[in-house]
Amino acid sequence: MKKTFMLIILAAAFAAGAAAQGVSLENGWVFSTGDSSQWASPNYNDKNWKPIDVHHPWEQQGYPKYDGFGWYRLHVFIPSSLKDKAYLKDSVRLNLGIIDDNDEVYLNGKLVAEYGGQANGKITVSNYGPRSYTLAANNPAILWDKENVLAIRIFDTGGDGGIYGGTHNVVMSSLLDNVTINNDESFDFGDNGSMSKSITLLTNSKYSYAGQLKFEAKEPETGNVAISKTVQVAFSAGKPYIYSFTIDRPLKRSYQLTYSFTEDRSHDVAVKFEGSPYVLTPWPSSKPRINGPSVFGARPDNPFLYMIPATGKKPLYYSVSGLPQGLKVDENTGIITGIVSQKGDYPVVFSVHNHLGTKTKKFTIKIGDVIGLTPALGWNSWNAFGLTVNDDKVRVAAKTMVTKLAAHGWTYINIDDGWETAQRLPGGEITPNQKFPDMKGMADYVHSLGLKIGIYSSPGPRTCGGYLGTWQHEDQDAKTYGDWGIDYLKYDWCSYSEVTDKDPTLEDYKKPYQVMRASLDKIPRDILFSFCQYGMGDVWKWGAEVGGNSWRSTGDIEDTWQSMSTIGFNQIADGPYAQPGHFNDPDMLVVGKVGWGSNQRNSRLTPDEQYTHISLWSLLSAPLLIGCDMGKLDEFTSSLLTNDEVLAIDQDALGKEAHQAIKKENYQVWIKDLEDGSKAVGIFNTSETYQTITLKPNDDGLSGYTKIRDVWQQKYLISSGNNFTVKVPPHGVVLVRVER
Ligand code: GLA
Repeated sequence: MKKTFMLIILAAAFAAGAAAQGVSLENGWVFSTGDSSQWASPNYNDKNWKPIDVHHPWEQQGYPKYDGFGWYRLHVFIPSSLKDKAYLKDSVRLNLGIIDDNDEVYLNGKLVAEYGGQANGKITVSNYGPRSYTLAANNPAILWDKENVLAIRIFDTGGDGGIYGGTHNVVMSSLLDNVTINNDESFDFGDNGSMSKSITLLTNSKYSYAGQLKFEAKEPETGNVAISKTVQVAFSAGKPYIYSFTIDRPLKRSYQLTYSFTEDRSHDVAVKFEGSPYVLTPWPSSKPRINGPSVFGARPDNPFLYMIPATGKKPLYYSVSGLPQGLKVDENTGIITGIVSQKGDYPVVFSVHNHLGTKTKKFTIKIGDVIGLTPALGWNSWNAFGLTVNDDKVRVAAKTMVTKLAAHGWTYINIDDGWETAQRLPGGEITPNQKFPDMKGMADYVHSLGLKIGIYSSPGPRTCGGYLGTWQHEDQDAKTYGDWGIDYLKYDWCSYSEVTDKDPTLEDYKKPYQVMRASLDKIPRDILFSFCQYGMGDVWKWGAEVGGNSWRSTGDIEDTWQSMSTIGFNQIADGPYAQPGHFNDPDMLVVGKVGWGSNQRNSRLTPDEQYTHISLWSLLSAPLLIGCDMGKLDEFTSSLLTNDEVLAIDQDALGKEAHQAIKKENYQVWIKDLEDGSKAVGIFNTSETYQTITLKPNDDGLSGYTKIRDVWQQKYLISSGNNFTVKVPPHGVVLVRVER
């Protein structure tokens, strides 16, 4: 899988006329690992090559853990009738789906397209993503009305590799190829139960467009059309068409929205779909409420920082009884600071009041060797900004976190790859690049808000983004982080492959993390240590012993159902290893505006899929690291991230991970044990239609649990008899807490 990918191109879904369906390239491919220039040739005999499916990575098809070169070949007839049916006849598009990482495309022996690059067998730029190449229709490489041989040379740096996902075909270029239906603006919720939004039709092509824009809202369960409107529209480069609408906001369900533009001349149609957002999280009460976990760990003699997360009408006043010697609380902010020297468990009572009342909560401060007793809650720059992260964007994230999220326990502001320089100072010190003029100042700012700050590096010579790694400077870098005031380190394997054995042993996998652990231990700060090596060597079996507070158990997540659900529902082998201070990390959240670069767009997960994402990650006791542009946090995303009863499942002090209790064709049930003896139960619909799911507590390991609370809606449900039946939307969830 990619080690750096800049941008995922979000192609509008085009459902076009007959011409655009083109020649299918979905089936008939053959494959070989290795590399040879002869394999580009149409005359090469590939009869003995093995068939391969272009919908799954090669790892899943008999080439486990294979990285490096692989070739795909296909013999395909391209009829000239394709041209006859098309409105535009001058160019052809080769849609090859998602390719991981880089590729060169040969048609009948001629190189017609390439993406990414590699030099001397080493990858220089790695670009995972959808490929669509345009060729002139009169390109002599295309043999019209004859058999063509398509040969694709792929280089994969690591993780999944090959061609998988997306659409594979040859089509004529359409007038709509350079038309975008941009629906990335967020919905605005009106006070009267309505929601509004604008979408934009735009182009950068030389053509002017006219046609019909049809807007449709369908009921999700019945498919009945609730709203349908058609307008005549026109747009051209520099003159976009903006369509605004206001619709009602149905309770507890999404409308399926379709925007389709039918172009007048070609009759080609461009279509974009989305689900409308719906909010389940109740509005927080004005009375004080203390949120967050029931426990916090810190090491003796290190600076202590914990902000009591509380909601309620401001001003709120905070006090704590039983604080250990060395700590004090700021009564206006709830920020507890100081240093404790004596190890031990300190039971304290938090108290928060405003003019409407007082709320107290029992809490344990554990001064000892283990920190990160509950999974980290925070933000990380990567899924939003990729390598374009800078000081400004991080400060916006910190400011937004403190105003909108910290009252619910969100704490960490983590800078991922892209802050480093390419060269060390003469003395070997690492410095931030010009995008971060003052890292110490930034850390001080984040701390002044009561939040914590994280940073990223690699044990190898370079990070995945090509910046400086820590290789052979571990003590020096740990000291620099300590001097800046860093509280969290994500340590990403990346180029460490270049300095360790080609076939690493278990000891090789552990080594870089042991070395950095020893360096961090010399620093008088509590720095959470987050391993990132994608699960190699079953990291969950030894992550805790090597001193990791969390370890990535998978490759990189994307904002698709395929990616999120495959990762989430496969956290099975690692589950039993989660414990306070040591958690599996199925990667960061893909809700809100994501983009991995300079452009952000709405997550491609539907609202129901986003409920599933947050529910599942909470059941998995995963670190929750928001991966969106916090400056554009919309109301729906905020509601997903501020449900205190959902977050309490993630933050439960028992630190256990849910297990997959039921797996059926259309649904799964995951159950997590909680500290107070209750259980959190996620009932997930993994299918594409509504499912009515019945839990039979006696059969499902839940006997005696009679009280059922819907956690998203924060209300008790009435169950009929012994069984509990729920209706769950496609790819959605009902998350409950069951009590005796
Ligand atoms: C890897 C990691 C990502 C991110 C990038 C940064 O791909 O898995 O989470 O940190 O590197 O380059």
